[in-house]
Amino acid sequence: MGLVDGKVALVTGAGSGIGEHSARLFAAEGASVVVADLNGDAAMSVAQAIVDLGGKAIGVQADVTNEQQVIAMVTATIKEFGRLDCAHNNAGISGTMTAFTDLSLDDWNHMIAINLTSVFLSMKHEIPAMLASGGGAIVNTSSGAGVVGFAGLPHYVAAKHGVVGLTKTAALEFAKSNIRVNAVLPGTTNTPMIQEFTNSNPDIGKMIARSVGRGSLGQPEEIAQAAVWLCSDRASFVSGDSMLVDGATVCR
Ligand SMILES: NC(=O)c1ccc[n+]([C@@H]2O[C@H](COP(=O)([O-])OP(=O)(O)OC[C@H]3O[C@@H](n4cnc5c(N)ncnc54)[C@H](O)[C@@H]3O)[C@@H](O)[C@H]2O)c1
Repeated sequence: MGLVDGKVALVTGAGSGIGEHSARLFAAEGASVVVADLNGDAAMSVAQAIVDLGGKAIGVQADVTNEQQVIAMVTATIKEFGRLDCAHNNAGISGTMTAFTDLSLDDWNHMIAINLTSVFLSMKHEIPAMLASGGGAIVNTSSGAGVVGFAGLPHYVAAKHGVVGLTKTAALEFAKSNIRVNAVLPGTTNTPMIQEFTNSNPDIGKMIARSVGRGSLGQPEEIAQAAVWLCSDRASFVSGDSMLVDGATVCR
């Protein structure tokens, strides 16, 4: 018996990293999965890999900063699988370290669009689809930067704090409608987003690993485990939470 047997799950940013592992785990735990990503080829390839393993999945190309594409993504889910039970709003980008006073408005707007507005738009259109079939569960990917500041990353930190705020607000608004909304806050995790830095210089890699409480990076499947559990019925009394999955980093 899988953790999410018979459910329909939508994962954004599922062409790579945490989202890919989340999509694969949802499928392994019994859900039919919509693999959504800006990179359509990556989405199709992750969906095909799930199908090759005997799971049910479709790939959807979607830019989650674009409301029409978000509507199309949710519509494709309902068309293919008839309902929406679980959503992992995970698409995001990392920020380039920039002094606060040097950050351009364009860079600020770009970050807020991808890492915050996307979560608002996704929930705005996922929630009615969930209400239509009696409820559901949402998990939004924030970050340790959703609860503490990082000098040099004002746009990333503001967006990830915003995700925590949106999560709490939606959890309150839909608590009596059988929709649970939580956030997962990954610590530094070994995905292409981070490999960009760790691969550039072994010393930087070691320094980043040392910054994690347990002394080694998180693995994307460890974040996926938390996301899928939060969307499962085992987490039936968990809503409005911001779950750190960071190997004892932010608590120091
Ligand atoms: N890796 C980490 O250390 C870490 C730590 C904390 C939080 N996070 C968060 O986890 C999430 C996933 O990051 P990851 O490390 O797996 O990165 P990743 O780069 O491996 O994957 C991100 C995916 O999001 C997709 N994407 C980007 N913009 C998009 C858009 N507009 N519409 C749809 N898809 C889009 C990309 O194409 C990519 O496939 C992000 O929100 C990130 O901020 C990551």
